[in-house]
Amino acid sequence: MKNRVTPTQREIALGEQDFIVSKTDLKGRITYANRIFMNISGYSEPELLGRQHNILRHPDMPRAIFKLLWDYIQAGRECFAYTKNLCKNGDHYWVLANVTPDRDEGGNISGYFSVRRRPRDEAIRYFSDLYARMLDAERRAGPREAIAASTALLEDEISQKGFKDYETFVLADAL
Ligand SMILES: Cc1cc2nc3c(=O)[nH]c(=O)nc-3n(C[C@H](O)[C@H](O)[C@H](O)COP(=O)(O)O)c2cc1C
Repeated sequence: MKNRVTPTQREIALGEQDFIVSKTDLKGRITYANRIFMNISGYSEPELLGRQHNILRHPDMPRAIFKLLWDYIQAGRECFAYTKNLCKNGDHYWVLANVTPDRDEGGNISGYFSVRRRPRDEAIRYFSDLYARMLDAERRAGPREAIAASTALLEDEISQKGFKDYETFVLADAL
């Protein structure tokens, strides 16, 4: 189900100690949410469990970032990503998310695990601007070319800053 929440563009800031935790199955359906996740997003546990994690997807987020996230985690790697998330009432909160694959005893990926915390204000300012430019590139390119267009913009930006990829750039915390 797609999210029909209308964004207010009002920002909720996470506290320094707020760690938002969730788990999903292989398809990104939520299997666990901690209390802070529920408090901040405004959704109750029954509203979250079994729902796709895109229940939080904010329309200001470029598609290329989620493509990158899924490429990393499906390949068995962890991913760090800045994300603007939509609350049930349309407010939003920025997070630096760390998403990792969960594995069963046989070593196969059995689901995914995410821990998120509040980014620094400089990072929020920077990624708001970068993602707005990426979204604009996606709109101008049209649906079929959207991800390629904004990925190219992202890669260009990262290499101009002297980093090899989004992950290294995010982890360097060089803003
Ligand atoms: C463990 C895990 C955590 C995720 N956390 C978020 C999140 O906080 N916000 C978000 O918009 N998408 C999150 N996603 C990605 C969503 O599954 C989804 O790909 C994204 O919202 C884009 O929606 P779409 O794939 O329907 O375009 C997460 C995925 C996984 C596997």
